[in-house]
Amino acid sequence: MPSSPVTEHVPGRLWFGGDYNPEQWPREVWDDDIRLMREAEVTVVTLGVFSWALLEPEEGRFDFEWLDDIVGRLHAAGIGIDLATATASPPPWMVRDYPDILPVTVDGTVLSGGSRQHYSPSSSTYRRFAVRLASRMAERYGTHPALVAWHVGNEYGCHVSRSFDSESAEAFRSWLKDRYTTIDRLNDAWGTSFWSQHYTSFEQVDVPKVAPSTRNPTQVIDFDRFSSDALLDLFKAEAEVLRAATPGIPVTTNFMGPFQPLDYWKWAREVDFVSDDSYPDPADPDSPATAALSRDLMRSLRYGQPWILMEQATSAVNWRRRNAPKPAGGNRALSLQAVAHGADGIMYFQWRQSTKGAEKFHSAMVPHAGPSTRIFREVVALGAELADLAGVTGTRESNRVAIVFDWDSWWALDQDAMPGDIDYLAIVKDWHRAFWRLDIPVDFVEPTSDLSTYDLVVVPALVVASDAGLSNLATVPDRGGSLVVTFQTAILDPELGVQQGGYLGSLQQVLGVSIDEFAPLAHPDESGTAPDASPLSSITGCLGKSVEISEWSEFVSVADAEVLATFDEGEVVGSAAITRRNAGSGVAWYVATHPGRPALRELARLLASESGVLAPDVEPRSDSVEVTKRGDLTFVVNHGNEPWAGTIDGGAVDLAAHDAVVTAAAPAPGSDARTERSQPARQPRP
Ligand code: GAL
Repeated sequence: MPSSPVTEHVPGRLWFGGDYNPEQWPREVWDDDIRLMREAEVTVVTLGVFSWALLEPEEGRFDFEWLDDIVGRLHAAGIGIDLATATASPPPWMVRDYPDILPVTVDGTVLSGGSRQHYSPSSSTYRRFAVRLASRMAERYGTHPALVAWHVGNEYGCHVSRSFDSESAEAFRSWLKDRYTTIDRLNDAWGTSFWSQHYTSFEQVDVPKVAPSTRNPTQVIDFDRFSSDALLDLFKAEAEVLRAATPGIPVTTNFMGPFQPLDYWKWAREVDFVSDDSYPDPADPDSPATAALSRDLMRSLRYGQPWILMEQATSAVNWRRRNAPKPAGGNRALSLQAVAHGADGIMYFQWRQSTKGAEKFHSAMVPHAGPSTRIFREVVALGAELADLAGVTGTRESNRVAIVFDWDSWWALDQDAMPGDIDYLAIVKDWHRAFWRLDIPVDFVEPTSDLSTYDLVVVPALVVASDAGLSNLATVPDRGGSLVVTFQTAILDPELGVQQGGYLGSLQQVLGVSIDEFAPLAHPDESGTAPDASPLSSITGCLGKSVEISEWSEFVSVADAEVLATFDEGEVVGSAAITRRNAGSGVAWYVATHPGRPALRELARLLASESGVLAPDVEPRSDSVEVTKRGDLTFVVNHGNEPWAGTIDGGAVDLAAHDAVVTAAAPAPGSDARTERSQPARQPRP
């Protein structure tokens, strides 16, 4: 079985467990917890995430007695510990004695304590205390045999990702000095000759607070970059003391899927493995696709390394307006989806449902109603099933299709005063979904990633592009692959200046097109029609006769490419909407719009088949059934509310609603997956 930092200390098992908050319960309950954990075949729990106020009840006075006790009990039960550094939420004494730690919102409001995460990312006071607690934790538990990983902080930036306090402003200025060295360089990069913004010293530069009109775009994106870096510095400060004390223990912090405030490409380089929190809405039919994207992104952040699903809910959350429960089987279906997409562990928030505090109505592994419930029965069954699937741990897939994902572009497209209100994540999601619906596995990559193993690389709305990124993308057709570039790509350079040589920059030559003018389409809401009910516009060509488009059209000049589809309506009528050029020994496509979902799926099918990427033959295809291979296993998951019966590469599969089957290999033509559930040998408990 291949090893990875994830499973090094949990050999032969997937992680299965959750956040365990024993401090919310009297110790009699702990005995019951451990008994039930054993029943559910829990292998790992995350301990201490919000324990700071109990571990350090007064400044400098530490009390580890209760934690020692529970760590010992868990170890005796053979349960591994993902130990938090407990720094996710500062204790009340810090708020009272050091109010400078408190974050300030863009309009100047100082946030108070009394909930959680009430610290400014740049607070040196918070950092000093956090690093001290992390080192105390490392000293005390670093050699404990139950320790399987360090869990630094918790969901960095979830509530406070940017702070506009004076210490943040000072830290921003110093970040800018590192980046630009001189104020003239900054003036040049920010284009401060516009609107009388010229600075004569760094001391005049502030964080981008609420202002009368559009703030300087480069100042805003630099503040986005700085704020992601400021939190990452905090993580690194804690990780450094942990690594020094316990070099053999992997360090992680839990991500939140495609979370806009933090550039997870940078973050992923600093963790030993990626872990993720994922709460798809059971009431949203799009949830399985959204979850699949998160899982693919998490696997891709460290280039295919297995990751941990660190938190999910067994059923309902309590932070939406109406909190739908997961349907019977839904928890298992999403858990197996995660394993299929590279997870080596399935964990929850939280083990036992709280009876007090802000999250008492959030589901847990042991619900208020106790263990004689469908939730706990499902947990126990999943624990046993995951024990049987242990053989999959450590396995990686080599995928042939990649989609570029880029935080700079996400930040830039969200700014004011852009040509249109393009929802970057929605565009990326639609492209990902088009391949996901065809069961073609997709990795995410950075513009500068090594692309040499991919046959097909899609670049959706990469509005901010560096020269290095553009040259790297151009290598795809050069060496025989297919490059697909969409509208709003390479419009700006990393300083948010317009690309030298015009929109698309150096890709103009590769694609054989240039863009004369944008013509964004009316927003569906503005016309009062539902996007699916009435197409706002259409194109005709390679995707069929008149297919719906949304978001975008533009005037494209074609120098050297085949026009495969043209716009049907408006000022752009007759202008190229999709082009294709034989470039190098490969192909370069330009897609000047956003085809509706059915057409985008058709385009994905066309692109995949031109690149020789084969999809499993699934009949009938359904929006809710996905087929994923990992290692020797094929996972077939029906996320839908209806049963599904069909064939996969000729083998019959029959699934109830929210059911899944894991087969030892692709269902062979003529076989019946119902009789082929895998039963790998059970591994001994660690
Ligand atoms: C996460 C968090 C957990 C819990 C959970 C509820 O954001 O890390 O502590 O709050 O959400 O869904």
